[in-house]
Amino acid sequence: MTGSGRDRTKHAKLLAWVDEWAAICKPDNVYWCDGSQAEYDRLCEEMVQSGTFTRLNPEKRPNSFLARSHPSDVARVEERTFICSKNKEDAGPTNNWMDPDEMRAKLKPQYDGCMRGRTMYVIPFSMGPIGSPIAYPAIELTDSAYVVTNMRIMTRMGQAVLDYLGEDKFFVPCVHSVGAPLQPGQKDVPWPCEGDISRKYIVHFPETREIWSYGSGYGGNALLGKKCLALRIASAMARDEGWLAEHMLILGLESPEGEKTYVAAAFPSACGKTNLAMIMPPGGFEGWRAFTVGDDIAWIKPGPDGSLRAINPEYGFFGVAPGTSYDSNPMAMDTLKPGNSIFTNCVLTDDGDVWWEGMGPAPKHGIDWKGQSWTPESGQPGAHPNARFTAPASQCPTIDPAWEDPAGVPISAFLFGGRLSKTFPLVYESFNWNHGVFMAATMGSEATAAAIGQAAIRRDPFAMLPFIGYHMADYWAHWVKMGQRKELKLPKIFRVNWFRKDENGKFIWPGYGQNMRVLKWIVDRVRGRSGAVESPFGLMPRYEDITWAGIDFSKAKYHGITDVARAGLQAEAAEIKQYFGTFGSHLPPELEKQRQELEERAGKAPEVWSAAAG
Ligand code: GTP
Ligand code: SPV
Ligand code: MN
Repeated sequence: MTGSGRDRTKHAKLLAWVDEWAAICKPDNVYWCDGSQAEYDRLCEEMVQSGTFTRLNPEKRPNSFLARSHPSDVARVEERTFICSKNKEDAGPTNNWMDPDEMRAKLKPQYDGCMRGRTMYVIPFSMGPIGSPIAYPAIELTDSAYVVTNMRIMTRMGQAVLDYLGEDKFFVPCVHSVGAPLQPGQKDVPWPCEGDISRKYIVHFPETREIWSYGSGYGGNALLGKKCLALRIASAMARDEGWLAEHMLILGLESPEGEKTYVAAAFPSACGKTNLAMIMPPGGFEGWRAFTVGDDIAWIKPGPDGSLRAINPEYGFFGVAPGTSYDSNPMAMDTLKPGNSIFTNCVLTDDGDVWWEGMGPAPKHGIDWKGQSWTPESGQPGAHPNARFTAPASQCPTIDPAWEDPAGVPISAFLFGGRLSKTFPLVYESFNWNHGVFMAATMGSEATAAAIGQAAIRRDPFAMLPFIGYHMADYWAHWVKMGQRKELKLPKIFRVNWFRKDENGKFIWPGYGQNMRVLKWIVDRVRGRSGAVESPFGLMPRYEDITWAGIDFSKAKYHGITDVARAGLQAEAAEIKQYFGTFGSHLPPELEKQRQELEERAGKAPEVWSAAAG
């Protein structure tokens, strides 16, 4: 099968690039993926034979497989992720940097012979509908069949992309190796076999739009269309070309009258994007429908009419498994039902199904994510906390009819939110565009509760801290600049927080489907229908501005999630001053102005400002 499929393209630059890397990595074979079902089935069967995949019970999980990663390779590795721009300054203070030439010289020897005894797969893929003016084509080279099968679910993959590229169209070149040449007697090596983290590199060359990944087989480190291309490289493209590449879900909300409003929301990793993207309107919202366009990434370009049009560049979901259940996210559970899915690091039950913590009653016995015999009494989680499912977006029962529209859907509101147990209210709207950019740039999220009882906040601007491909403050300036473009119909900007806690440390807001109440207020604000009052943070709904049909949620509880303490405001304004200081001259003056205005409002605020009293 040497060179198999090479004749399916006449793209000279692509052919030369594949040859160059084949000469470096020295695989036994080079195989060009056509993206067919037969090819997918064959690769899955080969992985079953080699032990990489376990075929699940076809009656419970048709055409579905379980994979277990190496215990050292279970998530993205931020400390080994690099932005290699020519100037260090351009990577900014939040990214790891190395000179591009130095990085190439350092990594080339690591790639030398790294695919010996193995197959190099050539994966043509498109982020976004093939040929959409918002989409980009790319090619990933990889030595992992696990990556190939995941990429077929997560992207539009195969011959159609080669056809689209023709003889000379631009593509983003992505190189991936798990960095583990086949040893005698081994059939497959889907994961790096060494735990040596210093040999892992997730590298981006934003100026030349290239990605080199070495030494990991997991998620965003290896499925290079996702965070590497669709966020880190694309954010640099978006800056240069005047659009937005964001860590956002896209959701369509349809009123009983049939009026459709699209919103996009950025929350940090594992803070509820997949859940909100698949929201089920609760009792009291009869006639309302919610539609999923995407759950992780949005590419947003100005349309001919000046609206901001968003596409989901992905084709599937790579969702957090633990905590997903028919109670918390029934649409995710139903997406998995038809099968055609890959599960990574979940529990294998004795009847050939998968299970994870928070799914429902635990099986009496199973095989845990490390491949060991496991019982619920073992005192250890059976699934890894970052266990994931890979499933086709088309199987989601609430997938939006327009989810593949090459023109994208028009966005009316941006939502930003993290996990904040205090200070920050349920929802507020920005006074204007720049204030909204300030709200997003200063967003925080809690890591763990500090031992001394104080909340430890990590600022995660726009939920893009691990994903921005250039200087963070230049990215803020790019957002400010978007707001100055007179031809654009700018969405309104909101902050949300589902995570405020009471004095006993319990979430006050029920969340999940009940978040629809906040979404309806946002839709009504966009449509100019609902009321709000001015708080020191921004425009907030009074108790009577929220629809309470179908829930018993007292005014007292509403105080608990919306009251704003002056001390909290002042501390926030002071902390942001320090934080902004780390960005030097790159900080847009518009944002420092917003900070000063927050400080002023804080100074004038009553000890406790209350929307419930308004
Ligand atoms: P990535 O795929 O890592 O980018 O993350 P994501 O933002 O899609 O994360 P996901 O939706 O999988 O986050 C799930 C976590 O947030 C789980 O622990 C959920 O239980 C929790 N969660 C989601 N929505 C809510 C909510 O409204 N309230 C509360 N309290 N928890 C929520
Ligand atoms: C995230 O960490 O935000 C993810 C998972 O969506 S990964 O694709 O691994 O980045
Ligand atoms: Mn994500």
